[in-house]
Amino acid sequence: LSKLTKPQIKAHQEACRILEKDRLNDDEREFVVENWQESATHINSAAGAFFTPLELAQSFAVEISGSAATGGRVIDLCAGIGVLALAAHWYNQGRIGELVCVEKNPDYVAVGRKVLPEARWICGDVFDLPDDLGEFTFAIANPPFGSGGPIKGVTLDLNVVAAAAPLAEYGVFILPAQSVPFEYSGRPCYRETEPGAYRAFHQRTGIRLGPSCGIDCSFAKDLWRGVAPNVEIAIADFDEWRAEKRGIAAGAGTALFGVAAE
Ligand SMILES: C[S@@+](CC[C@H](N)C(=O)[O-])C[C@H]1O[C@@H](n2cnc3c(N)ncnc32)[C@H](O)[C@@H]1O
Repeated sequence: LSKLTKPQIKAHQEACRILEKDRLNDDEREFVVENWQESATHINSAAGAFFTPLELAQSFAVEISGSAATGGRVIDLCAGIGVLALAAHWYNQGRIGELVCVEKNPDYVAVGRKVLPEARWICGDVFDLPDDLGEFTFAIANPPFGSGGPIKGVTLDLNVVAAAAPLAEYGVFILPAQSVPFEYSGRPCYRETEPGAYRAFHQRTGIRLGPSCGIDCSFAKDLWRGVAPNVEIAIADFDEWRAEKRGIAAGAGTALFGVAAE
């Protein structure tokens, strides 16, 4: 707790006290996601564990809505304590059919189970998921940023996008600005770009990312804890990707990813 301020420590301790309860009401859930400090017992930078500010998660939730979300299935990959899934659950007033959260840190899963008991929580690695998860309408993630993951030459965050692709119809992701093919947040206007990380990802997987409905993430830059990242919300149409792959690979019998993971 050494790098936290006294008010942050006090609020974190209050969040821990709330977490001792069997069931949390909505105010208590909100208090926990806003004040339970991921840095209290873990080195965030090592785990890439910077939880999404609730305000940004609420904006993100706009993309997980409408008839597709109602009764649909949503999987949150690298879920932390579940703030993205919780915001989607609240935004849809509980009408999402099923929520599944996957997180590898058991302490975060324990908190997540209290914050979002409506979800099925899986403590595990998103690169080694059970085979029986079924199909989802949306895969969502604010993945760890950095390097690593099964597809070599592709950043860790974009490896998580690739892991999401076979699971869902659509993907909605919070990604570093340099991982997406556009600039929007904090800019005077939208502009298409092709940063190297995205180019490598697209070349290896064939997946395309596009902009959200117009969510400018820069308003939340100073709301993150311990970092102030330049991020964008990016969307993928994985059904379209599958259709393109089927067209390209017709008769060739190749794997979904044109280039096999090394
Ligand atoms: C940037 S945090 C975001 C957490 C949450 N999605 C949010 O928006 O607040 C990334 C999370 O991914 C988890 N994580 C990292 N690698 C993972 C993996 N291979 N499988 C599952 N979870 C992972 C970390 O423990 C951390 O909780």
